[in-house]
Amino acid sequence: MEIDGNVALVTGGASGLGKATARYMSSRGAKVVIFDRDDTKAKEVANELGAGAVAVAGSILDEVETQAAVDAAATLGDLRMVFAIAGGATAASAGRTVSRNGTPLSLEGFSSTVELNLVGTFNTLRLGAAAMAKLDPANDDGERGVIVNTASIAGYEGQIGQVAYGSAKAGIIGMTLIAARDLASAGIRVNCIAPGTMGTEAWGLAPSEMRETLEAKVPFPRRFGKPEEFAALAEHLVTNRYLNGHVARLDGAIRFDPK
Ligand SMILES: NC(=O)c1ccc[n+]([C@@H]2O[C@H](COP(=O)([O-])OP(=O)(O)OC[C@H]3O[C@@H](n4cnc5c(N)ncnc54)[C@H](O)[C@@H]3O)[C@@H](O)[C@H]2O)c1
Repeated sequence: MEIDGNVALVTGGASGLGKATARYMSSRGAKVVIFDRDDTKAKEVANELGAGAVAVAGSILDEVETQAAVDAAATLGDLRMVFAIAGGATAASAGRTVSRNGTPLSLEGFSSTVELNLVGTFNTLRLGAAAMAKLDPANDDGERGVIVNTASIAGYEGQIGQVAYGSAKAGIIGMTLIAARDLASAGIRVNCIAPGTMGTEAWGLAPSEMRETLEAKVPFPRRFGKPEEFAALAEHLVTNRYLNGHVARLDGAIRFDPK
């Protein structure tokens, strides 16, 4: 799929990996909708990118707001790319299945994490794909669009205390192939990136000793991943037409230990 001249919807585009992806796709000629619940930061990114970038405030958990972001994309041109990046772990969801004092993990914390990451990603995917399916094919393969989901290596080897987040991201990993199969007849590919530890704003706030400990665990290169490296992989998952139903780890060969 061509990036230049097409429209990309980026959820979570106001920060971190989403912001880097919005910038990257814009620099390659895409028009970009930055969909994020943080209205102020989403507008800042849209202003930075200039003409052809639009901020839409809302939540991936809200059907109407997500549809509004898809509709905003359609006003810019052909929505051919959806980058479903919004998500993350919350403090409420962290903890062992049963704590050392015998308390089971909060069901609300577990559910809300699955809701944000797995249900929110599916909501984005289904509404984005429905809009893509109405477009004419863009090329001689009959391709109409590409969706890139965001999981985490915690979906493969979640650590102690990550049962909610890891389960949600494992769901996104599993959903990717099924959605690719579901959407094959519409000419829509679905891929996924499973990042390791990426150097986004949130990690910048962590104590330097903590960062250094985490970086030391990455075999090579011994550092956090750069958000631009995530965006570059997203670009490849879009432009290489034979990549479909694929989950790509982006992790410097790290495998999380149990803790
Ligand atoms: N940074 C990492 O090391 C890392 C590693 C593995 C996976 N990931 C995943 O990558 C994604 C992005 O992570 P990040 O580090 O860039 O996070 P971030 O917190 O910097 O950015 C996330 C963005 O998503 C937005 N958002 C959150 N909930 C939303 C909702 N319901 N609707 C719309 N927008 C919402 C936030 O406002 C924020 O702008 C997440 O899914 C995260 O789980 C990150």
